[in-house]
Amino acid sequence: MSETQFTPRVFSGIQPSGGLTLGNYLGAIKRFVDMQGAEFETIYCMVDLHAITAKFIDPATLVRNTRELCAGFIAAGIDPQQSILFNQSQVPEHAQLAWIFNCVARMGWMQRMTQFKDKAGKNAQNESLGLFAYPALMAADILIYHATHVPVGEDQRQHLELTRDIAAKFNHDYGVEFFPITEPVIEGAATRVMSLRDGTKKMSKSDASDMSRINMTDDADAIATKIRKARTDPEPLPSELDGLDDRPEARNLVNIFAALADSSPEAVISEHGGQQFSAFKPVLADLAVAKLSPMSGEMSRLMADPAEIDRILAHGAEQARELTAPILKRTYEIVGMVGA
Ligand code: TYM
Repeated sequence: MSETQFTPRVFSGIQPSGGLTLGNYLGAIKRFVDMQGAEFETIYCMVDLHAITAKFIDPATLVRNTRELCAGFIAAGIDPQQSILFNQSQVPEHAQLAWIFNCVARMGWMQRMTQFKDKAGKNAQNESLGLFAYPALMAADILIYHATHVPVGEDQRQHLELTRDIAAKFNHDYGVEFFPITEPVIEGAATRVMSLRDGTKKMSKSDASDMSRINMTDDADAIATKIRKARTDPEPLPSELDGLDDRPEARNLVNIFAALADSSPEAVISEHGGQQFSAFKPVLADLAVAKLSPMSGEMSRLMADPAEIDRILAHGAEQARELTAPILKRTYEIVGMVGA
């Protein structure tokens, strides 16, 4: 294995923590689909080891969530013939490399992670050690494939910077150029989709209000109602993009429109600038229904055959291990583990 030439390889993961939102779709899954093709090898993972870090998940629920996430990936256009699709726990090299990285990452680096601080709040003493160590596992997820590109939403940027720091420190400490310095791919109009009830808050599956988000399993009526009722201000859409400054709800709907239409916020404003929301929202609702509701139908069809989903995941894990086994072996050799 050459230690300086890295194959263009995409890795990304999503937690099977239940419920996929429009944020997950536009910020992540749709981008994963776009990156399939000749330029990259693509590897997409249901990160079940991450899903148990935050709170206790009932085992049967975790099983269902993992299958549902796999169905969501496929319904959105991830092709298991083209991409490696699997669940993290079935490729043990992720957790094995994570241990090495626990010994590379510094406490100070981990303590700066804003997502831990946000999730733990005042309750840090009662959080799991896994939640604190989670970004080192995320670095291992990526680097066990020598992945070069990682498409994610904006909220994962700091974790990807940590991944680069871990790779650089490992390479420096052991005097090798073994791990690539990964490129975050945080692009497009919807890297941070906001709540439909509050344009200053991220759209999230954990928000108490279901009206704050569009779920990938919502039917056409639910999607249209949520967009019609989305909070907005009383002004019409501006005719220039900078007219969206200080109008987070309007900006969010324009960004969602642009991402769903494979267009840009500039193009949306040049076509719809000056319109009232009473005119813009129905067009957006039609677009969202046209793009999203076929996926929810396809998801339920796939969920009706869990054995087929399990077969796809098992095959993906086998393919993944062909890539991870030699990289873990070489890592162990570099570190000085006898027998590797
Ligand atoms: P997770 O499961 O919270 O989210 C999965 C992906 O969805 C993106 N996302 C959003 N994008 C735009 N707007 C939103 N409102 C929004 N909400 C979620 C996230 O940015 C993410 O890309 N730590 C990761 C999972 C992970 C991972 C990895 C990712 C584990 N190992 C290795 C990449 C590479 C997470 O919790 O994502």
